[in-house]
Amino acid sequence: MSLDFSSEELKKYINHTAEIIDELYSKKLNRRVFAGKSPSEVMGLIEEDLPAEETAVADLLEKVREDIIGASTMNVGPHYYGYITGGGNQVAILAEMVSAALNQNNLKWHSSPISTEMEKLVIKWVSQFIGYSEKAAGAILDGGSTANFNCMAVARKNMAPKESSSEGLYGLKPMTVYVSEQGHSSFDKAVDVLGIGTNNLRKIPVDDKFQIRTELLEEAIIEDKNQGKKPICVIGIAGTTNSGAVDNLKELADISERHKLWYHVDAAYGGPAALLPSVTHLFEGMDRADSVVINPHKWLYVPFEAACILVKDPENLRRTFSFIPDYLLSNSEEEPRTDLMEYQLPLTKSFKSLKVWMTLKAYGSKRLMDTIQLDIDHAKHLEKIVKRSEDFEILAPVPLSIACFRYTPAGIEEERIEELNQKLAHHIEQDGRIFLTSTKINGKTALRTCFINPRTTFKDVEWIPEVIRDVAKGLF
Ligand SMILES: Cc1ncc(COP(=O)(O)O)c(C=O)c1O
Repeated sequence: MSLDFSSEELKKYINHTAEIIDELYSKKLNRRVFAGKSPSEVMGLIEEDLPAEETAVADLLEKVREDIIGASTMNVGPHYYGYITGGGNQVAILAEMVSAALNQNNLKWHSSPISTEMEKLVIKWVSQFIGYSEKAAGAILDGGSTANFNCMAVARKNMAPKESSSEGLYGLKPMTVYVSEQGHSSFDKAVDVLGIGTNNLRKIPVDDKFQIRTELLEEAIIEDKNQGKKPICVIGIAGTTNSGAVDNLKELADISERHKLWYHVDAAYGGPAALLPSVTHLFEGMDRADSVVINPHKWLYVPFEAACILVKDPENLRRTFSFIPDYLLSNSEEEPRTDLMEYQLPLTKSFKSLKVWMTLKAYGSKRLMDTIQLDIDHAKHLEKIVKRSEDFEILAPVPLSIACFRYTPAGIEEERIEELNQKLAHHIEQDGRIFLTSTKINGKTALRTCFINPRTTFKDVEWIPEVIRDVAKGLF
C-alpha cells in the first residue's frame, strides 16, 4: 500500500507548507522569542496515545502552523542572541526540501554519487573560505561536538602505536591532550569516551584576553613528558564559546611542531571570520593545523545540522575510520571512487552538502563575508554602548561577535549585582522581547550576546540595553 500522495495532493501540501513558511518569515519573526510555555504546556500541545488512525495532512499542517511554530523559540528572528545559534537562511530551506525528497544516503559513492562529490567540493570550498589547505579531506557531520570527537579520534589513532587498534590502550603510557581553560566541553567528553581520560586533558590557564598562556602550555608538555606521559595533541581555539577569544594559533603551531604533536584547531564558531581583513591577523597559524573543525550551521548561516571536519592529510582520516565489512565491499573498474564512510564515524548520512553548497552558491563568499563583518560590527556596537553606559560593565574583550557584560545600576553593592544578573537571564527569557544567555567571566555572572544573524539590525542592538533595564526594574 503506497504512502504517497497523488501529484495534485503533493503540490497542494507543498503550497500549504510554503504558505506557513512564508507567514513565519513575513509575520512572525518579531513575535516573542521564547515562547513562554512551561514543559507541561508544551507537552500538552502534542500528547496523545500512539495514533493508530490517519490524520488529514491539511489538519496536521495547521497544527504545525499554530502549535509547533507557536512553541518554538524564534531563533530565526532578529532578537535572538543566545548560545552560538544561527538563524539559518532561506535558500537552504529549499535545499532541505529537495534533500528530504531525494533521501540520498552517501555511505558509499554509488549510493549517492552527487552527494559524495558535492561533499568533497564543499569541504574544499569551506577550506578555501577559511584559508586552510585545499588538499584537506573531510566530512560534514551533525555538529561541532561530534566533529571535535572525530578529530580527537584521528589524533589519537595517528599518535598511538599501531597495535592500539587491535589491543586497545592497555599498557601504554597515558596520553595527554592540551587545551585552554576556555575549551569547549566536547573535548572533555571526547577524551573520556576515547579512553584518554579527563585527568589527561590538561586545561591551561588563559591571559586577560582569554587566550591560552603558551608558556604554561609548553611547561605542561615538558612536565608531562618528564613524568612518563605521552603528550599527543595541542588544541587551539579559534573563537571560544564564552567570549570569542582566538588563541595565538601561530605559537600553538610552533609548539606542536617543536614537540611533534597533533595540532587541532576548534574553529567551530570563529572559523568563517578567518579571512576577513579586520580580524584575519587573529587566525594566523590556523593553516598549519593537522585538523580543523568548522560549523557551517553557526557562522555560515546554514540551518542545523552541518559541522565540517577538515584533516590535512586524507590518509590520516582513512586510517582512523576505514573499516570495510563484506556487505560494504564494492569494486569499480573505472575512476577511483571516494566512499565517505571511510572518512567518518557514521555510515548512513543525509545529503548535508546540498544546503551548504546552495548557501555558498546563492550568496557567494563575498556577500557572506560582508554579512559576517556586519555581525562583528553589531557586537562592537553593543560593546561601545555598554562601555559608555554608567549602568553597564563590559566583562571581556570583543574580538569577534560575542559581547559579555553585566548590568550594574548605581548604588547597589557587588553581592546584589551578582544576584541581579543571575536573575536577569531568566527574567529576560520570560519577558520574551529578546533572548540571551548567561555565563561566568572571571567568576562574575555575565549576560552574553552572540551575533550571528543577518536579520539583526543596529537598531535591534540598541534595543538590548533598553530591554534589560526595563526587565531589571522589577528585580531590585
Ligand atoms: C568552540 C566550540 N566548539 C564546539 C562547539 C560544539 O558545537 P555543536 O553545538 O555544533 O555541537 C561549540 C558550540 O557552541 C563551540 O562554541
